Amino acid sequence: MKASQFVIAFITLALAIPFGDAYDPSPLQDFCVAIDKLDNGVFVNGKFCKDPKQVKAEDFFFSGLNIAGNTDNDVKSNVTTVNVENLPGLNTMGISLVRIDYAPYGQNPPHTHPRGTEILVLVEGTLYVGFVSSNQDKNRLFTKILHPGDVFVFPIGMIHFQVNIGKTPAVAFAGLSSQNAGVITIANTTFGSTPPINPEFLAQAFQLDAHIAFQLDAHIVKDLQAKFA
Ligand SMILES: *[C@@H]1O[C@H](CO)[C@@H](O)[C@H](O)[C@H]1NC(C)=O
Ligand SMILES: *[C@@H]1O[C@H](CO)[C@@H](O)[C@H](O)[C@H]1NC(C)=O
Repeated sequence: MKASQFVIAFITLALAIPFGDAYDPSPLQDFCVAIDKLDNGVFVNGKFCKDPKQVKAEDFFFSGLNIAGNTDNDVKSNVTTVNVENLPGLNTMGISLVRIDYAPYGQNPPHTHPRGTEILVLVEGTLYVGFVSSNQDKNRLFTKILHPGDVFVFPIGMIHFQVNIGKTPAVAFAGLSSQNAGVITIANTTFGSTPPINPEFLAQAFQLDAHIAFQLDAHIVKDLQAKFA
């Protein structure tokens, strides 16, 4: 390859990488406070930017993460999210935050964040945490028991969970590497979609038809779908 060809190939590659990337882009300015409609604003990364001259300290401020979420629900946990939707100054910053409360023996059920790696610090209680690697990595389970001050990382896209294995409430805070990391709860997406996935297809997917009557197995799926509908 001639030097000029190499330079062209290199430049093409260098230009192609950022466009092929679906991650939050690096900021292009000091800040880009999100607003809902274009009013003297600039459109960046899915949100409009507020006119910088109108930006105030409040745009970078959220209050209330000292308050526990209500854990009186089926899974006995509650996630309070601070992301670009309720803290507009996070727009284009590639970062967000959650507080997670767990009642005794409550859990944050298996889920993934399609757009963010998560770093979690436990401040109160005892958690059993883990994630499962991809099919390519043979679905290995990585787990740890956390005590206050312990930190665990859930790599982007991996299915993960946390279970309070203690007799007292647990509280954790976690940072995510996206302004809007997204959440896909496995049970809810599989059994609680709108409209529902054909129960017979799900029965086969979960190999429920291997040893008992197919119709009966579809009923098991229908029961699950009724719970998550
Ligand atoms: C989480 O807690 C908040 C505040 O108490 C409450 O409004 C919300 O309904 C709770 N969410 C769940 C899933 O229980
Ligand atoms: C998942 O489904 C359950 C059962 O319907 C519901 O209580 C829970 O709030 C759902 N979780 C999320 C994150 O939507």
